[in-house]
Amino acid sequence: MNITYNERNRVFKLDTAHTSYCIGIVDEENFVGHIYYGRKLADDDLAYLMRTQEPPFVPSKNNRDRTSFWDAFPTEYTGNDIGDYREGALTVRTEGGHTAVCLSYLSHRIYRGKEKLEGLPATFGNEEECMTLELTLEDKLLGLQVLLSYSIFADNDAVARSVRIINNGEGSIYLTKALSACIDMDNEDYEMITLHGSWARERAVQTRTIMKGKQGVSSTRGESSHQEHPFMAWKKRSTTEESGDIYAMNFVYSGNFLAQIEENQFGSIRAMMGIHPYNFCWKLEPGDSFQAPEVICVYSSEGIGGMSRCFHDLYRGHLIRGEYRDKKRPILINNWEATYFDFDTDKLLSIARQASALGIEMLVMDDGWFGCRNDDNTSLGDWKVNENKLKGGLKHLVDEVNKLGMKFGIWFEPEMISPDSDLYRAHPDWAIAVPGRTGSLARNQYVLDLTRKEVRDHVYEMVASVLRSANIEYVKWDMNRQLSDLGSYGLPADRQGELYHRQVLAVYELQERLTSEFPHLLLENCSGGGARFDAGMLYYSPQIWCSDDTDAIERLSIQSGTAMVYPLSVMGAHVSDCPNHAIGRVTPFKTRGYVALAGTFGYELDVTKIPQEDRDMIPEQIAMYHKYNDLIRRGDYYRIANYADNGLYDCYVVAAKDKSEALVTYVQVLNRPNYHSRRIHIPGLDPDRTYVIENADEWPEIRQTEYKGDTLHYAGINIPPLWGDFQGRLMHLTSK
Ligand code: DGJ
Repeated sequence: MNITYNERNRVFKLDTAHTSYCIGIVDEENFVGHIYYGRKLADDDLAYLMRTQEPPFVPSKNNRDRTSFWDAFPTEYTGNDIGDYREGALTVRTEGGHTAVCLSYLSHRIYRGKEKLEGLPATFGNEEECMTLELTLEDKLLGLQVLLSYSIFADNDAVARSVRIINNGEGSIYLTKALSACIDMDNEDYEMITLHGSWARERAVQTRTIMKGKQGVSSTRGESSHQEHPFMAWKKRSTTEESGDIYAMNFVYSGNFLAQIEENQFGSIRAMMGIHPYNFCWKLEPGDSFQAPEVICVYSSEGIGGMSRCFHDLYRGHLIRGEYRDKKRPILINNWEATYFDFDTDKLLSIARQASALGIEMLVMDDGWFGCRNDDNTSLGDWKVNENKLKGGLKHLVDEVNKLGMKFGIWFEPEMISPDSDLYRAHPDWAIAVPGRTGSLARNQYVLDLTRKEVRDHVYEMVASVLRSANIEYVKWDMNRQLSDLGSYGLPADRQGELYHRQVLAVYELQERLTSEFPHLLLENCSGGGARFDAGMLYYSPQIWCSDDTDAIERLSIQSGTAMVYPLSVMGAHVSDCPNHAIGRVTPFKTRGYVALAGTFGYELDVTKIPQEDRDMIPEQIAMYHKYNDLIRRGDYYRIANYADNGLYDCYVVAAKDKSEALVTYVQVLNRPNYHSRRIHIPGLDPDRTYVIENADEWPEIRQTEYKGDTLHYAGINIPPLWGDFQGRLMHLTSK
C-alpha cells in the first residue's frame, strides 16, 4: 500500500496490493481529473488518459469551447451547472438562488491511518493498516471547500471514499445534492449488476447492458429498502464469476441512496453513489460543514467472486466492531414463527426447556412482550413489559432461561410509534408528520421523529432500562416501515430537507449509545426482514436478519445475492417449520439446516411441536454448526452455481484462507429423471495439495475419496442425482 504525489506530472497514485487509482491535476485552473482505476501499474505518467491534448483541449488553450471541455473531461468529483451535460455530484443553492459549482484543486494531505467520520459508520484501520489521501477542492466564488478522502488498506484492495463540504463563505449555502463518490471512465463493453427485490425476496441479482443515458438503483424510503440496494457493479461482458474485470461501489449508509451510471455521447461512463438528492436540502451556515457518508470502491480482475471476497474481507476486518465480530454466535431459537403474538412465560419456557436439551444456546423473545401488543396494531413506543403475558415479570423469565444454561435475547422496534399507544396519546407531535395532514400508516404505525433530542433520549432510556432490568444478552432491533409524510416539529422550515438524513444519523447515535453502554450485547439489525441489510448497519451490529422468507429454497437466491457484497458471518439465517410460513413449501429438515449453516444459524419454530424426526436431527445440526462455523465465518466464499440462474441447483464453497479445508454445499432443487451425474468444479483450493472427502460415508456414489486441488477445480467431480426435490448435501474437504 502506498500513496504518492508526483509533482512533475501532477499525478496522485494510490496503490493497493493489486490495484492502482490515479488522479491528475490539469491546466492553469487546476482541474481535478480521474485518470485510471484498475490493475496495479508501476508507471504514474498516465495523464494522457484524460485526453486533454486532443480537442476540445483545456480552457487555457481553447476557452471558447469551455463547455465542451466539461462535457468530455473525466472529472474526479463534479460540480454543477458549468457546462457538463452529465449529471454532477454536488449541487447547491446560494442565497442569491444560483446553482453553479466549479471545483478546482487547492491542496492535499497524505497521511497514515484513517480519520473517523463524525456520527457516521465507516471503515477503520490504524497507521500500519491504512493510508489516506485528502484532496481539498474549492469553489472560490462560493467560498466552498470540498475535501475528498481516499483511504487504502494494507491487507485489502478496496478504496474507501468520502466527502466533506465546508462553507467558508459569508452567506448560507444549501446543499441540494452531495454525493460521496464519482468515477468517470471509458465504457469498455460494461454490464451493470444491481440488487433488487421486495419483502421476502431481497437482493435478487440483476444484470443489464449499460446504455446511453442514465441507469441505476435508488431508495427514497428513508432506509436502504427491500426494493433496491445501495450497491452497483460494472463488469466487462466477458467477466465471469472467476475471472475478468469488475468494478463496484457499496454505500456505508442506511438511508436514501442513489447509485447511477450515466453513459455520455462519447461512450464514457460516470458512476456515482451517495445520498439521494430527493427531498435533500442541507443548510450550511458560514463555517458549517457537511460530512457525506463513505462509499467503498472495489476493482477486481478475478471476476464477480473476486469482488465479493474483497468486500467480505474488508467488512470483516475493517468495518464490523465489537466482541462478536470474530466469535461464534450463540445458536438461538426465536419465537416469532413459533408463536407470533400468542405466548406467555410458560410457553416460552416450554420452548426453552426443549431447546436447551437439544443444545440450543439462546432464547429470543420476539415482538409482542410489551404494552397491549397482541397483534401488530398497537403499543409501539410503550416499552413496558406486559405482565399478563410475562407473569412474574421479565427478570423472572430471563432468570429461568439462564437457569437452563441459555442466554436470553429480546426484540425492539425503537424507531416506531403506534397511534394506539400511551406514547402517542401523550406526544402526538413526536411522530414524523406534515402538520395538518394525516400521515400514511404502514403496519398501522408511524415513525418517531428521532431528530429531536428529547425523543431520542426518551427512546434510549426506554430500551436501556429494559436491558438494565435483567440479564439480556442479545437485541433484535427491528424497523418495519419506510418514512413518508416528511415533516418534523423540531426543525425550522429551511431545515425540513435535512430530516431524512438526520433521522439516519439519529439511529446511528442510538445504536452507538447502546453498544457503548452494553459492550457485551449481541445486536442484530432487522427491517421487515432485510430492508436495512447494509454496510452502515454492520458498523453497529455484527449480524443482520436477511429476510422474513425462511424457506430454504428461496433463501438460496436471497443469501447468494446478499453474499455478492456481505460475508456469510453477518447473514441472519434460521431453520424454520414447514409448510414454510412465507411460501407454503415443504423441504427436508436436513436441507433447511444446510442452508441456514451459511449464515449465523438458529431456529425459528416451536420446537415442542415439530415432528419427532425433525427434532431428532437438531443435535446433529448443532454439531455441524460447531464443526463448520469457524470456517464459514472466516473463510473465502466462492459461488459455483446459482439456483436463481439455472432453476435446478445451487452450489457454493467456503475455503479456509490457509487452504487446509473447504466446505461445499450442494442443494438440488429439482430432480429430473434419466440424467447422468452433474459436474461441479470446486474453486478456492490449493491446486497442488491432495484433499480428502472427510465425510465420504455421506457420498457413497463417489468411489474415490482423494483428489488433488487442481483436479477438483479444473476437472471437477460428479455429483450424483439425489432422490427427490430440495435435497442437499455437504462435502467437507480436508487437505492431507
Ligand atoms: C419483522 C421481522 O423481520 C420479523 O422477524 C419479526 O421480528 C417481525 N417483524 C415482528 O413484528
